[in-house]
Amino acid sequence: MYNILVTGSNGQLGNELRRIVEDKDKINKYYFTDIADLDITDKNAVTDFLIKNNIDIVVNCAAYTNVDKAEDDKEKADLINHIGPKNLAEVCRDNNCFLIHVSTDYVFDGTKNTPYTEKDETNPLGVYGITKLNGENAIISSGCEYVIIRTSWLYSSFGNNFLKTIQKLTAEKDSINVVFDQVGTPTYAGDLATVINNIILNDNKNIKNQVYHFSNEGVCSWYDFAIAINEAFGHNCKVLPCHSDEFPSKVTRPNFSVMDKTRIKKKLGIKIPYWKSSMQKCVKTFAFEVSI
Ligand SMILES: NC(=O)c1ccc[n+]([C@@H]2O[C@H](COP(=O)([O-])OP(=O)(O)OC[C@H]3O[C@@H](n4cnc5c(N)ncnc54)[C@H](OP(=O)(O)O)[C@@H]3O)[C@@H](O)[C@H]2O)c1
Repeated sequence: MYNILVTGSNGQLGNELRRIVEDKDKINKYYFTDIADLDITDKNAVTDFLIKNNIDIVVNCAAYTNVDKAEDDKEKADLINHIGPKNLAEVCRDNNCFLIHVSTDYVFDGTKNTPYTEKDETNPLGVYGITKLNGENAIISSGCEYVIIRTSWLYSSFGNNFLKTIQKLTAEKDSINVVFDQVGTPTYAGDLATVINNIILNDNKNIKNQVYHFSNEGVCSWYDFAIAINEAFGHNCKVLPCHSDEFPSKVTRPNFSVMDKTRIKKKLGIKIPYWKSSMQKCVKTFAFEVSI
Protein backbone atom coordinates (compact mmCIF):
# COMPACT_ATOMS: atom_id res chain seq x y z
CA MET A 1 0.00 0.00 0.00
CA TYR A 2 1.26 3.47 -0.88
CA ASN A 3 0.51 6.82 0.74
CA ILE A 4 -0.14 9.22 -2.12
CA LEU A 5 -0.26 13.00 -2.02
CA VAL A 6 -2.24 14.75 -4.78
CA THR A 7 -1.59 18.51 -4.97
CA GLY A 8 -3.85 21.04 -6.71
CA SER A 9 -6.70 18.55 -6.41
CA ASN A 10 -9.51 21.10 -6.77
CA GLY A 11 -8.62 21.54 -10.45
CA GLN A 12 -9.75 19.54 -13.48
CA LEU A 13 -7.19 16.75 -13.29
CA GLY A 14 -7.20 16.48 -9.50
CA ASN A 15 -10.97 16.09 -9.43
CA GLU A 16 -10.91 13.46 -12.18
CA LEU A 17 -8.20 11.57 -10.32
CA ARG A 18 -10.29 11.64 -7.14
CA ARG A 19 -13.28 10.28 -9.06
CA ILE A 20 -11.21 7.45 -10.55
CA VAL A 21 -9.42 6.34 -7.40
CA GLU A 22 -12.66 6.35 -5.39
CA ASP A 23 -13.97 3.89 -7.95
CA LYS A 24 -10.88 1.84 -8.84
CA ASP A 25 -8.20 2.06 -6.18
CA LYS A 26 -9.13 0.48 -2.87
CA ILE A 27 -5.48 -0.37 -2.08
CA ASN A 28 -3.68 2.93 -1.66
CA LYS A 29 -4.30 5.85 0.68
CA TYR A 30 -4.76 9.24 -1.00
CA TYR A 31 -4.34 12.72 0.47
CA PHE A 32 -6.13 15.17 -1.82
CA THR A 33 -4.92 18.72 -1.15
CA ASP A 34 -5.14 22.14 -2.75
CA ILE A 35 -3.45 25.45 -1.98
CA ALA A 36 -5.43 26.02 1.25
CA ASP A 37 -4.17 22.68 2.66
CA LEU A 38 -0.75 22.54 1.07
CA ASP A 39 0.89 25.32 -0.94
CA ILE A 40 3.54 23.71 -3.16
CA THR A 41 5.54 26.95 -3.16
CA ASP A 42 6.15 26.52 0.59
CA LYS A 43 9.02 24.00 0.75
CA ASN A 44 8.91 23.59 4.54
CA ALA A 45 5.19 22.82 4.42
CA VAL A 46 5.80 20.24 1.66
CA THR A 47 8.59 18.60 3.71
CA ASP A 48 6.42 18.49 6.84
CA PHE A 49 3.49 17.00 4.91
CA LEU A 50 5.56 14.26 3.27
CA ILE A 51 7.25 13.23 6.51
CA LYS A 52 4.16 13.44 8.73
CA ASN A 53 2.06 11.33 6.35
CA ASN A 54 4.82 8.98 5.26
CA ILE A 55 4.17 9.79 1.59
CA ASP A 56 5.52 7.40 -1.09
CA ILE A 57 4.16 9.05 -4.25
CA VAL A 58 3.35 12.68 -5.10
CA VAL A 59 1.03 13.49 -8.01
CA ASN A 60 1.39 17.17 -8.86
CA CYS A 61 -1.84 18.53 -10.36
CA ALA A 62 -1.17 22.06 -9.05
CA ALA A 63 -0.40 24.68 -11.66
CA TYR A 64 -0.92 28.24 -12.86
CA THR A 65 -2.94 27.46 -16.01
CA ASN A 66 -4.24 30.84 -17.21
CA VAL A 67 -2.12 31.21 -20.34
CA ASP A 68 -3.14 34.84 -21.09
CA LYS A 69 -2.97 36.11 -17.51
CA ALA A 70 0.49 34.59 -17.03
CA GLU A 71 1.90 37.21 -19.43
CA ASP A 72 1.20 39.95 -16.81
CA ASP A 73 1.76 37.71 -13.81
CA LYS A 74 5.21 36.26 -14.54
CA GLU A 75 6.35 36.04 -10.93
CA LYS A 76 3.32 34.11 -9.72
CA ALA A 77 3.32 31.80 -12.76
CA ASP A 78 7.01 31.06 -12.17
CA LEU A 79 6.44 30.43 -8.47
CA ILE A 80 3.67 27.89 -9.09
CA ASN A 81 4.87 26.25 -12.33
CA HIS A 82 8.62 26.26 -11.69
CA ILE A 83 9.52 26.79 -8.02
CA GLY A 84 6.60 24.63 -6.77
CA PRO A 85 7.62 21.56 -8.84
CA LYS A 86 11.30 22.21 -7.89
CA ASN A 87 10.30 22.10 -4.20
CA LEU A 88 8.31 18.91 -4.70
CA ALA A 89 11.20 17.28 -6.59
CA GLU A 90 13.83 18.18 -3.98
CA VAL A 91 11.64 17.05 -1.09
CA CYS A 92 10.78 13.83 -2.99
CA ARG A 93 14.50 13.20 -3.58
CA ASP A 94 15.32 13.72 0.10
CA ASN A 95 12.48 11.44 1.25
CA ASN A 96 12.62 8.69 -1.41
CA CYS A 97 9.27 9.59 -2.95
CA PHE A 98 8.25 9.15 -6.58
CA LEU A 99 6.97 12.31 -8.29
CA ILE A 100 4.38 12.20 -11.07
CA HIS A 101 4.23 15.64 -12.67
CA VAL A 102 2.09 17.07 -15.47
CA SER A 103 3.32 19.49 -18.12
CA THR A 104 2.13 20.92 -21.41
CA ASP A 105 2.30 20.96 -25.21
CA TYR A 106 2.98 24.71 -24.86
CA VAL A 107 6.66 23.92 -24.28
CA PHE A 108 6.78 23.69 -28.11
CA ASP A 109 6.60 26.57 -30.59
CA GLY A 110 4.26 24.80 -33.01
CA THR A 111 6.42 25.24 -36.10
CA LYS A 112 6.52 21.50 -36.89
CA ASN A 113 3.87 19.88 -39.04
CA THR A 114 4.25 16.32 -37.78
CA PRO A 115 3.50 15.21 -34.20
CA TYR A 116 5.99 16.33 -31.54
CA THR A 117 7.98 13.54 -29.88
CA GLU A 118 9.62 13.76 -26.48
CA LYS A 119 12.97 14.18 -28.26
CA ASP A 120 11.92 17.31 -30.14
CA GLU A 121 13.43 20.61 -29.20
CA THR A 122 11.37 22.79 -26.88
CA ASN A 123 10.86 26.50 -27.53
CA PRO A 124 7.94 27.93 -25.57
CA LEU A 125 6.26 31.03 -26.99
CA GLY A 126 4.91 32.56 -23.77
CA VAL A 127 5.32 32.86 -20.01
CA TYR A 128 3.10 29.87 -19.24
CA GLY A 129 5.15 27.54 -21.48
CA ILE A 130 8.46 28.95 -20.22
CA THR A 131 7.52 28.45 -16.57
CA LYS A 132 6.22 24.92 -17.23
CA LEU A 133 9.46 24.04 -19.06
CA ASN A 134 11.52 25.44 -16.18
CA GLY A 135 9.46 23.24 -13.85
CA GLU A 136 10.26 20.16 -15.98
CA ASN A 137 13.97 20.97 -16.01
CA ALA A 138 14.08 21.54 -12.25
CA ILE A 139 12.53 18.11 -11.69
CA ILE A 140 14.89 16.37 -14.12
CA SER A 141 18.00 17.94 -12.57
CA SER A 142 16.88 17.39 -8.95
CA GLY A 143 17.85 13.72 -8.86
CA CYS A 144 14.42 12.55 -7.67
CA GLU A 145 12.53 9.64 -9.24
CA TYR A 146 9.94 11.15 -11.57
CA VAL A 147 7.60 10.80 -14.49
CA ILE A 148 6.66 13.94 -16.44
CA ILE A 149 3.54 13.70 -18.62
CA ARG A 150 2.99 16.49 -21.13
CA THR A 151 -0.64 16.87 -22.09
CA SER A 152 -2.67 19.21 -24.31
CA TRP A 153 -6.07 20.96 -24.52
CA LEU A 154 -7.25 19.49 -21.21
CA TYR A 155 -10.97 19.52 -20.39
CA SER A 156 -13.36 17.99 -17.90
CA SER A 157 -16.75 18.60 -16.33
CA PHE A 158 -14.75 20.24 -13.49
CA GLY A 159 -13.11 23.66 -13.59
CA ASN A 160 -12.91 26.09 -16.49
CA ASN A 161 -12.07 24.87 -19.95
CA PHE A 162 -12.84 25.20 -23.65
CA LEU A 163 -15.56 22.55 -23.60
CA LYS A 164 -17.51 24.36 -20.88
CA THR A 165 -17.04 27.75 -22.56
CA ILE A 166 -18.35 26.43 -25.87
CA GLN A 167 -21.20 24.57 -24.14
CA LYS A 168 -22.33 27.88 -22.63
CA LEU A 169 -21.81 30.01 -25.77
CA THR A 170 -23.59 27.58 -28.09
CA ALA A 171 -26.53 27.47 -25.67
CA GLU A 172 -26.81 31.27 -25.62
CA LYS A 173 -25.88 32.44 -29.13
CA ASP A 174 -27.12 31.86 -32.67
CA SER A 175 -23.58 31.81 -34.05
CA ILE A 176 -20.00 31.87 -32.80
CA ASN A 177 -16.59 32.22 -34.46
CA VAL A 178 -13.88 29.76 -33.50
CA VAL A 179 -10.28 29.65 -34.71
CA PHE A 180 -9.41 26.98 -37.25
CA ASP A 181 -5.71 27.81 -37.68
CA GLN A 182 -4.55 26.24 -34.40
CA VAL A 183 -4.41 22.48 -34.50
CA GLY A 184 -3.83 20.01 -31.67
CA THR A 185 -5.50 17.21 -29.76
CA PRO A 186 -8.01 17.57 -26.92
CA THR A 187 -7.44 15.50 -23.79
CA TYR A 188 -10.21 14.35 -21.48
CA ALA A 189 -8.76 14.80 -17.98
CA GLY A 190 -10.53 11.56 -16.98
CA ASP A 191 -8.37 9.63 -19.49
CA LEU A 192 -5.19 11.27 -18.18
CA ALA A 193 -6.24 10.47 -14.60
CA THR A 194 -6.76 6.82 -15.64
CA VAL A 195 -3.20 6.70 -16.99
CA ILE A 196 -1.82 8.19 -13.76
CA ASN A 197 -3.79 5.64 -11.73
CA ASN A 198 -2.49 2.89 -14.05
CA ILE A 199 1.11 3.99 -13.32
CA ILE A 200 0.41 3.88 -9.57
CA LEU A 201 -1.48 0.58 -9.53
CA ASN A 202 0.88 -1.31 -11.82
CA ASP A 203 3.95 -0.06 -10.02
CA ASN A 204 5.49 0.71 -13.40
CA LYS A 205 9.11 0.94 -12.29
CA ASN A 206 10.44 0.73 -15.87
CA ILE A 207 8.85 4.02 -16.82
CA LYS A 208 10.68 6.20 -14.31
CA ASN A 209 12.83 9.22 -15.07
CA GLN A 210 11.41 10.04 -18.48
CA VAL A 211 9.16 12.58 -20.15
CA TYR A 212 6.00 11.27 -21.87
CA HIS A 213 3.38 12.74 -24.18
CA PHE A 214 -0.28 11.99 -23.55
CA SER A 215 -3.43 13.32 -25.22
CA ASN A 216 -6.39 11.59 -26.80
CA GLU A 217 -5.93 10.17 -30.31
CA GLY A 218 -6.52 12.17 -33.48
CA VAL A 219 -6.09 15.76 -34.56
CA CYS A 220 -8.46 18.74 -34.80
CA SER A 221 -8.64 22.52 -34.77
CA TRP A 222 -10.45 24.46 -32.02
CA TYR A 223 -13.16 24.99 -34.68
CA ASP A 224 -13.61 21.23 -35.20
CA PHE A 225 -13.62 20.73 -31.43
CA ALA A 226 -16.31 23.42 -31.03
CA ILE A 227 -18.50 21.84 -33.74
CA ALA A 228 -18.28 18.48 -31.97
CA ILE A 229 -19.18 20.09 -28.61
CA ASN A 230 -22.15 21.92 -30.15
CA GLU A 231 -23.42 18.61 -31.55
CA ALA A 232 -22.76 16.59 -28.38
CA PHE A 233 -24.86 19.01 -26.32
CA GLY A 234 -27.61 18.99 -28.96
CA HIS A 235 -27.30 22.74 -29.57
CA ASN A 236 -28.17 24.41 -32.87
CA CYS A 237 -25.63 27.22 -32.83
CA LYS A 238 -23.81 28.02 -36.10
CA VAL A 239 -20.10 27.48 -35.49
CA LEU A 240 -18.03 29.48 -37.99
CA PRO A 241 -14.29 29.25 -38.71
CA CYS A 242 -12.09 32.29 -38.16
CA HIS A 243 -8.38 33.16 -37.95
CA SER A 244 -6.63 33.53 -34.60
CA ASP A 245 -5.76 37.18 -35.34
CA GLU A 246 -9.49 37.90 -35.01
CA PHE A 247 -9.04 37.20 -31.29
CA PRO A 248 -6.18 39.50 -30.28
CA SER A 249 -4.21 38.00 -27.41
CA LYS A 250 -1.07 38.96 -25.50
CA VAL A 251 0.37 35.54 -26.07
CA THR A 252 1.12 33.66 -29.26
CA ARG A 253 -0.14 30.10 -29.08
CA PRO A 254 1.47 27.28 -31.08
CA ASN A 255 -0.33 26.75 -34.42
CA PHE A 256 0.41 23.04 -34.29
CA SER A 257 0.81 21.18 -31.01
CA VAL A 258 -0.11 17.60 -31.85
CA MET A 259 1.97 15.20 -29.75
CA ASP A 260 3.27 11.73 -30.61
CA LYS A 261 2.25 9.24 -27.90
CA THR A 262 4.21 6.19 -29.05
CA ARG A 263 6.45 6.15 -25.96
CA ILE A 264 3.68 6.07 -23.35
CA LYS A 265 1.60 3.58 -25.36
CA LYS A 266 4.56 1.18 -25.61
CA LYS A 267 5.73 1.54 -22.03
CA LEU A 268 2.30 1.16 -20.43
CA GLY A 269 0.78 -1.13 -23.08
CA ILE A 270 -2.29 1.11 -23.35
CA LYS A 271 -4.74 2.00 -26.09
CA ILE A 272 -5.80 5.66 -26.08
CA PRO A 273 -9.37 6.65 -26.98
CA TYR A 274 -10.14 8.89 -30.00
CA TRP A 275 -10.74 12.50 -28.92
CA LYS A 276 -14.35 12.64 -30.07
CA SER A 277 -15.32 9.42 -28.23
CA SER A 278 -13.79 10.75 -25.02
CA MET A 279 -15.48 14.11 -25.47
CA GLN A 280 -18.87 12.37 -25.78
CA LYS A 281 -18.09 10.35 -22.65
CA CYS A 282 -17.19 13.54 -20.78
CA VAL A 283 -20.39 15.28 -21.89
CA LYS A 284 -22.38 12.51 -20.17
CA THR A 285 -20.54 12.99 -16.85
CA PHE A 286 -20.74 16.75 -17.35
CA ALA A 287 -24.55 16.66 -17.38
CA PHE A 288 -24.46 14.69 -14.13
CA GLU A 289 -21.92 16.96 -12.40
CA VAL A 290 -23.76 20.12 -13.34
CA SER A 291 -27.12 18.85 -12.17
CA ILE A 292 -25.92 17.91 -8.65
N1 LIG B 1 -5.80 23.17 -18.79
C1 LIG B 1 -5.19 22.82 -19.92
O1 LIG B 1 -5.69 23.01 -21.05
C2 LIG B 1 -3.84 22.16 -19.86
C3 LIG B 1 -3.18 21.86 -21.06
C4 LIG B 1 -1.95 21.23 -21.00
C5 LIG B 1 -1.39 20.92 -19.77
N2 LIG B 1 -2.03 21.23 -18.61
C6 LIG B 1 -1.39 20.90 -17.33
O2 LIG B 1 -2.18 19.88 -16.70
C7 LIG B 1 -2.09 20.02 -15.28
C8 LIG B 1 -3.47 20.02 -14.67
O3 LIG B 1 -4.16 21.16 -15.20
P1 LIG B 1 -5.65 21.52 -14.76
O4 LIG B 1 -6.32 22.07 -15.95
O5 LIG B 1 -6.25 20.39 -14.00
O6 LIG B 1 -5.34 22.73 -13.76
P2 LIG B 1 -6.39 23.60 -12.93
O7 LIG B 1 -7.77 23.12 -13.20
O8 LIG B 1 -6.05 25.03 -13.17
O9 LIG B 1 -6.03 23.19 -11.44
C9 LIG B 1 -4.84 23.58 -10.82
C10 LIG B 1 -5.11 23.59 -9.33
O10 LIG B 1 -3.88 23.96 -8.66
C11 LIG B 1 -4.21 24.89 -7.65
N3 LIG B 1 -3.04 25.64 -7.22
C12 LIG B 1 -2.60 26.84 -7.72
N4 LIG B 1 -1.50 27.24 -7.04
C13 LIG B 1 -1.24 26.27 -6.13
C14 LIG B 1 -0.26 26.12 -5.12
N5 LIG B 1 0.70 27.05 -4.94
N6 LIG B 1 -0.28 25.02 -4.32
C15 LIG B 1 -1.24 24.09 -4.49
N7 LIG B 1 -2.22 24.17 -5.41
C16 LIG B 1 -2.22 25.26 -6.23
C17 LIG B 1 -5.28 25.73 -8.30
O11 LIG B 1 -5.96 26.53 -7.36
P3 LIG B 1 -6.59 27.95 -7.88
O12 LIG B 1 -7.63 27.58 -8.88
O13 LIG B 1 -7.13 28.51 -6.60
O14 LIG B 1 -5.45 28.72 -8.47
C18 LIG B 1 -6.15 24.65 -8.92
O15 LIG B 1 -7.07 24.11 -7.99
C19 LIG B 1 -1.26 21.29 -15.04
O16 LIG B 1 0.07 20.93 -14.79
C20 LIG B 1 -1.35 22.04 -16.35
O17 LIG B 1 -0.25 22.88 -16.56
C21 LIG B 1 -3.25 21.83 -18.63
